[in-house]
Amino acid sequence: MLKKTRMLAAVAAVAGFALAGSYAVAEPADDDLVIDGTMKMTVRAKPPEGHPLDEVRSGWLYRTEETRALEEDTFQNPGMLYVERGEEIWNTADGKAGKSCASCHGEAAASMKGVGASFPKWDADAKRPINIELRINKCRQENMQAEPYKFDHADQKALTTYIKHQSLGMPVSVDLSQGDMQSWWEKGKETYYTRTGQLNLSCASCHELNNGKYIRADHLSQGNVNGFPTYRLKQANMVSLHNRFRGCIRDTRAEYPKAFTDVLMALEVYVTWRGTGLSVETPAVRQ
Ligand code: HEC
Ligand code: HEC
Repeated sequence: MLKKTRMLAAVAAVAGFALAGSYAVAEPADDDLVIDGTMKMTVRAKPPEGHPLDEVRSGWLYRTEETRALEEDTFQNPGMLYVERGEEIWNTADGKAGKSCASCHGEAAASMKGVGASFPKWDADAKRPINIELRINKCRQENMQAEPYKFDHADQKALTTYIKHQSLGMPVSVDLSQGDMQSWWEKGKETYYTRTGQLNLSCASCHELNNGKYIRADHLSQGNVNGFPTYRLKQANMVSLHNRFRGCIRDTRAEYPKAFTDVLMALEVYVTWRGTGLSVETPAVRQ
């Protein structure tokens, strides 16, 4: 209860920003993300045409020095345990066909390189965009005769993290010319700018108009998705993208849609596009 009240107070504070105008503002860090001293990530990118901001920035730049340092060092990054777990799953047979991911895809380092950077992709069978989680379920059902994972199953998060990690450092790039992607982008954009909930806030209220400001201890970023699934220190766990979306919507005191529904898939297409050019950072570390 106490927690709930505190959160409401924090969120109400945001609702008041425009009026009060007294919230602390801080520039994002003037820092480079170089993993293990060798892999330089793109944390500031030139926006794609039609983007509302002057510069696309990774959420890493808005975190504290201590949190940033965790992501810079593979041995310290707690998300790397999930990458290791994902590798085990990749190599383990499951389902009636007796196959593992590796049976068909071989070494993920080769077959999955770049794949995570280009999702969501258009799925011609489903006639809608799908993300990595849904692509994994499709392979489990159609190619392994295994059960699809339920949303946020620990193995779903680990395997998604593992696949995305194979694109570490590669630029996020969604192909909007596939199928009907453009209209999903439009739908996602509409959701992004629609104010909802008792607090009457949209994604843009926080991540576009007020990025750089603080909601209590949280330095508001642009809300980019290039680090997902992300290790969150607060939860001491990996957090999937649709879980994060749902959390942000819940914070506006609105009804929040189920994972993988059309609303959230469209939002994923649009928000992924907003982060075009940033490096895939999975597993990113956030507070
Ligand atoms: C029986 C063979 C088979 C198995 C087993 C299999 N897949 Fe697939 N997978 C495919 C085929 C075929 C495709 C479609 C290839 C294409 O579209 O280029 C595919 C596509 C994919 C893609 C999309 C690749 C891209 O470039 O867009 C991903 C990701 C993927 N599989 C992950 C997995 C994972 C994870 C597992 C294990 C849980 C798995 N697959 C098991 C055959 C398999
Ligand atoms: C009340 C303000 C608020 C609203 C409204 C809001 N968010 Fe957030 N969001 C946050 C805060 C606070 C964080 C954690 C700090 C940060 O990264 O900005 C966050 C984080 C995120 C992240 C993770 C960024 C990263 O680098 O890990 C994503 C993605 C995100 N939000 C997307 C959205 C989307 C999409 C919407 C609209 C459905 C939305 N948010 C609405 C406050 C908000």
